Amino acid sequence: MTYDASFRVWRGDVDGGDLQDYSVPVNEGEVVLDIIHRLQATQAPDLAVRWNCKAGKCGSCSAEVNGRPRLLCMTRMSTFTEDEVITVTPMRTFPVIRDLVTDVSFNYQKAREIPSFTPPPGLNPGEYRMKQVDVERSQEFRKCIECFLCQNTCHVVRDHEENKQAFAGPRFLMRVAELEMHPLDVADRRDAAQAEQGLGLCNITKCCTEVCPENIRITDNALIPMKERVADRRYDPIVWLGNKLFRR
Ligand code: SF4
Ligand code: F3S
Ligand code: FES
Repeated sequence: MTYDASFRVWRGDVDGGDLQDYSVPVNEGEVVLDIIHRLQATQAPDLAVRWNCKAGKCGSCSAEVNGRPRLLCMTRMSTFTEDEVITVTPMRTFPVIRDLVTDVSFNYQKAREIPSFTPPPGLNPGEYRMKQVDVERSQEFRKCIECFLCQNTCHVVRDHEENKQAFAGPRFLMRVAELEMHPLDVADRRDAAQAEQGLGLCNITKCCTEVCPENIRITDNALIPMKERVADRRYDPIVWLGNKLFRR
């Protein structure tokens, strides 16, 4: 079963651009990325799109479909009606390079700003021991494919360029939380989370969690627990001391 779908695709670069209309054949079982590839192959050979695995695992094909942040390779055409106009635009939070490709270096910068895993002095690799429950906790965060859809969606930076300096975004606040919860990490990350990574700017709207293709519960399992640890630290010296002495 084949039909022609109406696509509106943003074409342009850093100097500006607009939506262009295309009619592209669709076969059963296809995803939006298939249609973008067919468009490239038949009508728009210079259309820029970033992709790699076509399996929802590399995190490259992030864009917005009908205004919703999505992986193009995981968005099935069967979720749209045949007469629907499907609009594909680049992620809004990051600067456009060309067409559907954005410059996501903001995220790499934020990743570099987080101090790395800090094991106790004198403990050598191979001597690390962890409880299974601690391993399982961080495994959820480790599913991240760095698609940056959560970073693109969070309103703190999506409409506020001026916040980018002060806010690491959900993906990297989750990384801070993962390290803070790690039983062998001895760095105290709470002050930096608040002062440098901008944890206080997150008002737990959970939009990041909603768009995560790995279904990581970013807000409930990383951001809120991190906020609780920061609050303990700031307002309750007894809890802070207890955490210091008996932290897991
Ligand atoms: Fe993508 Fe989820 Fe990782 Fe954010 S946390 S970068 S939405 S996989
Ligand atoms: Fe942003 Fe997620 Fe917090 S969308 S405001 S980081 S809960
Ligand atoms: Fe790899 Fe879509 S192409 S996640």
